[in-house]
Amino acid sequence: MEVDVSKIEPGQLIRVEWRGKPVWIVRRPQEILDALPKHDDQLRDPASEQPQQPGYAQNGYRSIKPELFVAVGLCTHLGCSPTYLPDSFGEQVQGVSSGFFCPCHGSKFDMAGRVFQSVPAPLNLVIPPYYYVNDATILVGADKEGA
Ligand code: FES
Repeated sequence: MEVDVSKIEPGQLIRVEWRGKPVWIVRRPQEILDALPKHDDQLRDPASEQPQQPGYAQNGYRSIKPELFVAVGLCTHLGCSPTYLPDSFGEQVQGVSSGFFCPCHGSKFDMAGRVFQSVPAPLNLVIPPYYYVNDATILVGADKEGA
């Protein structure tokens, strides 16, 4: 499925559907990207060692281009859809301004979908396969090389 990402504003999240699942696409501002490495010690899998993403998203941003975050919007605990808290996540994790909070049992994920420690969710959010068709468009659901 092709998605026009050119009009997503900094900090904005849009939702699309892929195989019946919600997929989030978020344009992350530079200050969010700069903050990502600062709370690694509070995460369960900061280096994304578990196979929750394609190889091209196994990096500090969990994305192809740092500014654009693409993830399956389902909690890895029991599959609720976490809430995007662009401004008030600090109430959940002190010192971390933005993230995702799952209302079902309180799991917390950062702006790269990495799960915090001491919550029920065991794994980082899933990153689906995707690639850039051009600068303005991504295709969700397939890798460039393959199908
Ligand atoms: S489903 Fe998200 S914390 Fe349980």
